[in-house]
Amino acid sequence: MRRLPPTEATGLRTGRRHSLAEVYRPADLVVLGLGVMIGAGIFSIAGQQAATTAGPGVILSFMIAGIACLLACLCYAELASTMPASGSAYTFTYVIFGEVWAWIIGWALILELQFAAAVVARAWAGITVGAITNFGVRVPNEGLVGDILVFVILVLLTGIVALGARVGLRALWIMVSAKLLAIGAVIVVGVAHIDVANFGEFYVPPKTLTTPPATVLEVLFGEGQAFGWFGVFAAASAIAFAYIGFDIVATSAEETVNAPKAVPKGMIRSLVIATVIYLAVALVMVGMASYTKISVEAPLSGAFRQAGVDWMVHVIDAGAVLGLTTVILVLIVGQTRVLFSMARDGLIPRGLASVSRRYHTPTRVTLVIGFVAIALAEFVPVLTMQELVVIGTLFAFLFVAAGVIVMRRRMPGLERGFRVPLSPLLPALSLVATLWLMVNLRVLTWAWFVLWMAFGLLVYLVYGRRHSILARPHAPVESGRGGGRHRR
Ligand code: ALA
Repeated sequence: MRRLPPTEATGLRTGRRHSLAEVYRPADLVVLGLGVMIGAGIFSIAGQQAATTAGPGVILSFMIAGIACLLACLCYAELASTMPASGSAYTFTYVIFGEVWAWIIGWALILELQFAAAVVARAWAGITVGAITNFGVRVPNEGLVGDILVFVILVLLTGIVALGARVGLRALWIMVSAKLLAIGAVIVVGVAHIDVANFGEFYVPPKTLTTPPATVLEVLFGEGQAFGWFGVFAAASAIAFAYIGFDIVATSAEETVNAPKAVPKGMIRSLVIATVIYLAVALVMVGMASYTKISVEAPLSGAFRQAGVDWMVHVIDAGAVLGLTTVILVLIVGQTRVLFSMARDGLIPRGLASVSRRYHTPTRVTLVIGFVAIALAEFVPVLTMQELVVIGTLFAFLFVAAGVIVMRRRMPGLERGFRVPLSPLLPALSLVATLWLMVNLRVLTWAWFVLWMAFGLLVYLVYGRRHSILARPHAPVESGRGGGRHRR
């Protein structure tokens, strides 16, 4: 239960060997956010959910997930503005709730980021093979080519992240701009081909599934359902995947100029822009093709093909390939920063927290992450496990929302660059909305999650508990309830 004092959150005490250079300006954070958010969620998952789970009601699912994420984002923004640390939710929890909870959140973030990098790399390979095929080139052994592509993209992006934030940042600006152009084309060209009849009823009547109940809520009600309100909410939980990423912006706080002000702005702006884009793309998609005809494999391209606008297929392919590339890139960056923080605090081997003198990045931890992502993407059927990414993320949201409420009471005097309006009402709503999304996830996902967390707890008991910097004599453990002021 030992807690990190807020003044230690950014690791200043650990010295230059473990500190990161400030490279990000406010606009970079918006690019980071859009870079990591706009990806598989809008290019693939939205269409899959429309076709199988929510129908045109997928628009409502996007709104529900968007509202839940906006509430969480406000809470992240407040905590990031008081503790601008690379560990993000992990560090917030360390300061507010204590070490064991911090470890648990750190472990959940590893699930989020490491798995997401593998999931999106797999999806990227599939989309890239599809894009090559769409050019009329026959890909002989798709499975093998996919495996090779996964390997190549992860090696390449891990290399970019290891070489330094500036290299990655330049590449990111270019790729995010190109992806936004492609999405812009989808919206502008797509609007002209909307058939209002396709919207039909936004609410598709529920259909009882022949398969057994899958989500926690369905099990409670004893019936598996697609479409109807069950479908809309179940789709919202799956679609939360599309919003994953605004939270990752917070992991760049230690490297951001004037972080207490810039990070909240960057997070909120990128989330709002992404939400508007998602709603527009989803409207176009379900407006162009009846949900009964949406292709689960290639929803957006399929809609344009049905409308006879075949050239758009290549634009979508290019947008998706670049789009998913930036998602993987920023996921790797975020994961390095969280693990770096955990290593700096001694909860995983401290050697992983060393920053390369030459490249000014935590090179060692980056290489480990790249290696694990390749292993996961190559040998585990990660595409079936994307909900695990969502549950890991949502779990962290819970602690962040609760953290805002606790921190306001415990340290009212702490300097806050951003304050959640109407606290504690909005943080409390964030808790409820997150829990709601969580009960709409599958029971199987919960079971895997519990196993993962139990394993993590074991790792903590065996290693972290004894090696933590707070386990050392004279460690700066936070115990009082005072309201100190914190300077970065
Ligand atoms: N939000 C990211 C995506 O949709 C993870 O690919």
